[in-house]
Amino acid sequence: MPEVDPNIVVYFNGQYLALRDAHVGILTHALHYGTGVFEGIRAYWNEDDGQLYLFRAVEHYERWKQNCGILRIDVPLTAEHLCEVTIELLRRNAFRTSVYVRPIAFKSAERVGVSTDAHDSFAVIALPFGEYLHSDKGLHAGVSSWRRIEDNAIPARAKICGAYVNSALASDDARRSGFDEAILLNESGHVAEGATCNIFMVRKGALITPPVTENVLEGITRDSIIELAQRELGLSVAERPVDRSELYVCDELFLTGTAVGVAPVVRVDHRPVREGSIGAITRDVRRLYFDAALGRLRAYRKWIIPVRPPQQEAEPASVAEVAVV
Ligand SMILES: Cc1ncc(COP(=O)(O)O)c(C=O)c1O
Repeated sequence: MPEVDPNIVVYFNGQYLALRDAHVGILTHALHYGTGVFEGIRAYWNEDDGQLYLFRAVEHYERWKQNCGILRIDVPLTAEHLCEVTIELLRRNAFRTSVYVRPIAFKSAERVGVSTDAHDSFAVIALPFGEYLHSDKGLHAGVSSWRRIEDNAIPARAKICGAYVNSALASDDARRSGFDEAILLNESGHVAEGATCNIFMVRKGALITPPVTENVLEGITRDSIIELAQRELGLSVAERPVDRSELYVCDELFLTGTAVGVAPVVRVDHRPVREGSIGAITRDVRRLYFDAALGRLRAYRKWIIPVRPPQQEAEPASVAEVAVV
């Protein structure tokens, strides 16, 4: 990963400021106890259009605010207002490349003691970001010996900072063992998801993915793939528990997420998925997803917000204005 430029503009405590000037104290509650909730949003640079498209930002901010509610963290802006902040942030940074946006809200009291109070802060950071997993030739995934966290311990459906220890342990183990990504099972032994992504398999021409009650993050890419597969490819999609051994006998396998996009898996636990090459349905789904994210599909322009104003000197438009394209 390239070094992060300390001069990039971030949004913190209600202000736009340089990353080098945005600090938290060493006693901050979230640093000690993991009491933060983050989000990950992509903006895709389309060279032909000379435009940066923010992908499903309203849905991401709505999920973030709901999940902040689990930890009773208050984010005092609406999802639409947060989109406007993000557009302004991207414009101030004048990015002409694909970007990852990282909102984070956290318990900010500086003291010792695990019980929470009403001191909350949030920030939005945007960084130039290319491919997260180099998946063009397909990935080798390994089933982790770490189990996915249970809903009654730390809800996996929210991107709670402390919960990502689970992903970090699995991901580190997987990479040290020579895999590209970890697949986690839940305590029932069913497939849950990847360390940073949801999972889909293809069997007999249908898509199958674990339901949201199997300790998975309710992925927005997952939701996009389900809609694209059903509406554009006429595929049936089943949300049902998945056994580990189904990964070894399925026809195709792929991972989905804001960071990974749609990443084909061609080997699992040293076994090839079918012929060990990327399957036709995975290719179609992947192409559709990136076409939608890059603004090439008219029917899915509802998912994107163009960031750059028609004339660079124009005032930032409101989300209501820019969302209708
Ligand atoms: C554990 C986990 N599962 C799934 C996902 C995919 O979610 P989304 O598609 O909303 O990015 C992510 C990534 O954010 C994740 O961290």
